[in-house]
Amino acid sequence: MVFATDVTASRIDFPALNRADSTLVYLDNGATALKPQVVIDAITEYYADYSANIHRGVYAMSARATAAYDDARVAVKALLGVDDSQGELLFTRGTTEGINMLAYSWAQHNVARGQKIVLTPLEHHSNLVPWQQLAQRVGAELVFFDIDAEGALTEAAIEAAIDQHTALVAVSGMSNVTGYRPPLEPIVRVAHSHGAAVVVDAAQLAAHHPVDVAALGIDFLSCSAHKMCGPTGIGALYVRRERLEEMEPFHFGGDMIQHVGLHSSTWARVPEKFEAGTPNIAGAIGFGAAARYLAAIGMQQIAAHERELGTYLNERIDERDYLRRYGKLPIDRAAGICSFSVSGAHPHDVGSLLDQLGIAVRTGFHCAQPLMAHFGVDGTVRASLYLYNTRDDVDRFAAALDRVVNVLT
Ligand code: ALA
Repeated sequence: MVFATDVTASRIDFPALNRADSTLVYLDNGATALKPQVVIDAITEYYADYSANIHRGVYAMSARATAAYDDARVAVKALLGVDDSQGELLFTRGTTEGINMLAYSWAQHNVARGQKIVLTPLEHHSNLVPWQQLAQRVGAELVFFDIDAEGALTEAAIEAAIDQHTALVAVSGMSNVTGYRPPLEPIVRVAHSHGAAVVVDAAQLAAHHPVDVAALGIDFLSCSAHKMCGPTGIGALYVRRERLEEMEPFHFGGDMIQHVGLHSSTWARVPEKFEAGTPNIAGAIGFGAAARYLAAIGMQQIAAHERELGTYLNERIDERDYLRRYGKLPIDRAAGICSFSVSGAHPHDVGSLLDQLGIAVRTGFHCAQPLMAHFGVDGTVRASLYLYNTRDDVDRFAAALDRVVNVLT
């Protein structure tokens, strides 16, 4: 089987880019990534050869499924820098479920009336709406960091927003609109100096940058496999060990119990305690294969590729005076995602015509309405890169934009 270990050769691993009839320029990686053959094969092999349940059977096929599921957790932990002494990685359905789980399992019991939850205005709705709901349930207050015109935080904004009343800071690791990465180090330092926990929405970050949860010192991190070359319907929630002690299960049922009586029960050890019911076994196995694939290519190499290609993409957008780009920030703070508006044209019309030319982008408000309000737009066109994108993709995208604008304006 073909399997590249170098970012520039990685296109050969992705069947969607290698169909004989394909002229696809896929620039919607912020929404989901294409899948390499190794991931597709790992999932197919599970379903074809050993699709038994885990943690239950005394027979070989179930033991094989259990081992593959457990190996997948090891692979994802290795990619994110999780080691058993400092925390645990729970499988979830994705970033959104991980954050909702935290709201019920941790915050519901650890954020008190009158305490503050601090967020950025650039959060994806999945790291905003669960906290709005939690704040309403427990009587907490939401507070937002100030951001500048391009959507970046300053260190002064961090010091100003977090204080002794802050229980939690919930922050995107990388904006899905601009690619901007808020400075996590000072956020964690200031939050911890006030005893507040930090959760990072790493839906984008974990797919595009090296992540080391231990070095970051964060308390929680949530991510999705499907943005990381893995399948949909599976993700991971990292929880620092001290915080695990503060969490209650959110889902109850089989596999998460130790002993069940008619009126009460006790819980299994972590991670099973937080993974009730038959999990997404095939999804986890696919996630593990994706984690190993990304590790073999190298997250540093992927990030460097996106910086280089992102610079080229930004230049192509900025040299067209009919385009207005949002989040114009240094490339080492914001790479790989480029959002812009087209003078005189609606983003959806631009996206639909680009599709007719074989270019896939996302248009609209990108599940980030407060950031759209900050930029003063109803929506943007968004091109987002990944390891398999090339300069040729960007050139074809730029040429297609010129044609589309001629039609629309
Ligand atoms: N969160 C995904 C995006 O930004 C769906 O497109």
